[in-house]
Amino acid sequence: MSDGPLVLGIETSCDETGVGIVRGHTLLADAVASSVDEHARFGGVVPEVASRAHLEAMVPTIERACETAGISLHDVDAIAVTSGPGLVGALLVGVASAKALALGLGKPLYGVNHLAAHVAVDQLEHGPLPEPCLALLVSGGHSSLLRVEDVTVGVDPLGATIDDAAGEAFDKVARLLGLPFPGGPHIDRAAASGSSVAIDFPRGLTSRKDVERHRFDFSFSGLKTAVARWVEAQQRLGTPIDVADVAASFQEAVCDVLVRKAFDAAQFHGIDDILIGGGVAANSRLRAMATERAEARGIRVRVPRPGLCTDNGAMVAALGAELVTRGRAPSALDLPADSSQPITTVVA
Ligand code: KG4
Ligand code: ZN
Repeated sequence: MSDGPLVLGIETSCDETGVGIVRGHTLLADAVASSVDEHARFGGVVPEVASRAHLEAMVPTIERACETAGISLHDVDAIAVTSGPGLVGALLVGVASAKALALGLGKPLYGVNHLAAHVAVDQLEHGPLPEPCLALLVSGGHSSLLRVEDVTVGVDPLGATIDDAAGEAFDKVARLLGLPFPGGPHIDRAAASGSSVAIDFPRGLTSRKDVERHRFDFSFSGLKTAVARWVEAQQRLGTPIDVADVAASFQEAVCDVLVRKAFDAAQFHGIDDILIGGGVAANSRLRAMATERAEARGIRVRVPRPGLCTDNGAMVAALGAELVTRGRAPSALDLPADSSQPITTVVA
């Protein structure tokens, strides 16, 4: 077993109750209980339902993680928890649970940023993060390009979405196509049998004029509208919708913009390593496209395995372990849950 602090991490920012246990860069347990099925019929996460599900799942998920890791709670060196950003009621369940554990066990508490945790998780798979690296974070709530020098100190935002997040676009387009929530994995699967060049959907913020003002920003709402218009037009004509072709062409447009802008930002900032994280990083086309283009450009790309891209407790534990290793100060026990914790605040 590798060295390093033994850290338990708790994630409850959205609909996944995640409890991860790591020792340094080694993953020992990653227990996740999801309430996603309870939200599916609403077509999106219902905050009150998510909070209640976290409450019910918390203790059993902690117990499951400890059992898998073969540790007792008394063995841990620190407790880490997502303090934001996310749904405030959901975050509160994790933060209150982490405080109770930290206080009861007499261990330090780290309230960490969800987005920084999406970056840090890759250490569990590919070892220490290159410093600096360019992180492309794409999830249901965020799409950002970040310069990361030391993930325990802070990240430097280079650009972000000006409207919908990439995952949100996947979820909305899936809904248009009659696919279940959350739509990302369903679009990914449907696209596998479709043609990515069947429909030429727009690439947001890539025109010469847009690039002047928004070189490293994203926009996906125009793409979503273009898909809606295309589907409506086919329906008016009475033509059956080829879901696989729409999914593949839409997915291609999203991935093309994400990868293009990430490489542009890396080159502009003289960075040779790109890390892709967040739920959308589980997308098979995004992973393949980034890897292909990286080879041609002499840039290294790291993407954690899909299970570590979507929300989980291991990512929080991974960031917590790095904070302990680097001697960063823990949070106060009156740590608040901050639904809009800025990306620049790694530890609250
Ligand atoms: O990081 P995450 O689990 O939660 C947030 O922090 O938001 O990301 C969830 C998002 C959802 O929008 C979901 O549709 C998307 O990630 N997603 C995917 C895939 N798997 C999950 N999007 C595209 N392709 C996938 N395979
Ligand atoms: Zn996330």
